Amino acid sequence: MTVIEAVAARQILDSRGNPTVEVDVRLADGSLGRAAVPSGASTGAAEAVELRDGDPERFHGKGVANAVANATGPLAAAVRGLDAEDQAAVDAALISCDGTADKRRLGANAILGISLATARAAAVARGVPLYRSLDPDAAVLPLPMINIVNGGAHADNPLDFQEFMIAPVGARTFFEAVRMGSEVFHTLRRALATAGHNTNVGDEGGFAPQFTTADEALTFVTDAIAASGYEAGRDIAICLDPAASEFFKGGAYDYTGEGLSRSVGEHIDYLSGLLRRYPIISIEDPMAQDDLDGWRALTEREGANTQLVGDDVFCTDAARLQAGIDGGCANAILVKVNQVGTLTETLSTVDTARRAGYRVVMSHRSGETEDTTIADLAVATGCGQIKTGSVSRSDRTAKYNRLIRIEEELGPRARFAGR
Ligand code: PGA
Ligand code: ZN
Repeated sequence: MTVIEAVAARQILDSRGNPTVEVDVRLADGSLGRAAVPSGASTGAAEAVELRDGDPERFHGKGVANAVANATGPLAAAVRGLDAEDQAAVDAALISCDGTADKRRLGANAILGISLATARAAAVARGVPLYRSLDPDAAVLPLPMINIVNGGAHADNPLDFQEFMIAPVGARTFFEAVRMGSEVFHTLRRALATAGHNTNVGDEGGFAPQFTTADEALTFVTDAIAASGYEAGRDIAICLDPAASEFFKGGAYDYTGEGLSRSVGEHIDYLSGLLRRYPIISIEDPMAQDDLDGWRALTEREGANTQLVGDDVFCTDAARLQAGIDGGCANAILVKVNQVGTLTETLSTVDTARRAGYRVVMSHRSGETEDTTIADLAVATGCGQIKTGSVSRSDRTAKYNRLIRIEEELGPRARFAGR
């Protein structure tokens, strides 16, 4: 009854107005699973390949009509007749149908759409929510890293660092964390407006004022935490994603917003200085994907007290993560389903991290849709942390709202990861 009978796919729009793949998987018992695929802007070099048409006449070359055709053609043929309850077998069939290491032939976007829609269809067939379908005992709600200032590739301002986030570590429930985040977000909005800054938001829903330095952003953020009635560090901590691969040029870190360049050593000193001056508990991609020596040096210096999260450097790939573990790089990993392209590979990367004592942060992409799969994955894996943007914009709040509903559904069984 849970055999895959049909696969449909279409182009829909993501939060930046670009086309992306949406897939429907229908089972023999009529169960329907649907998933939409996210898309990054500051992508890691080793990510699974997102297939784009490149036809300048359609969506400025960004069409995904070929990926849709691959999903309904060869990939559908490869999974039709397989049992949706055997996710590993479905994903293995998708991977071997494509046949390339980075899924470039048929597209990681086509493959991921089917993979996630299959998991959703299986949950529908079982009559349980997705997180419970993946783990019947799942009960941990993640600590959210809530984006409130955008820079880098996600905004048009001169700010070199891509993301400034707040983590309500003192909250007792997920809902309370969201409330605290929303309060700080609105306090920050007023403070920015009072100081004459614009209050427009960037791709992930955080504000994108004309800041030029991280200190400027961090001062506004810590002040907004205090002005909202919270103690920075105790109630609400700060997390950063400099997305350093984006400004690592010729062996040095090129801070164009500040108009200066820092050597690897100077960049590490600068990050350490920020850690001393502000209540920062986590930095993602503090070092570039190609700067493994820098990664190792920073991990040695700050890794005992600060979460150092590898995004571009690992690309959600278990082998790359294992190399990082062996080499002493980072102590946590950002997990993005579309970096690797199937649910099975995503879960295997989470396992690899767990076994090594590396923490896991489930993550959105800067280009998102109303799809909330990552909210369920955060609970299903019990990873304890999620990064899903600001508390504004429906593509971001859809995930927070999904987690609010899951917390309610779990009732007294729900546990909030907190700090
Ligand atoms: P991206 O950015 O989705 O644009 O790649 C997110 C991140 O760097 O974490
Ligand atoms: Zn990142």
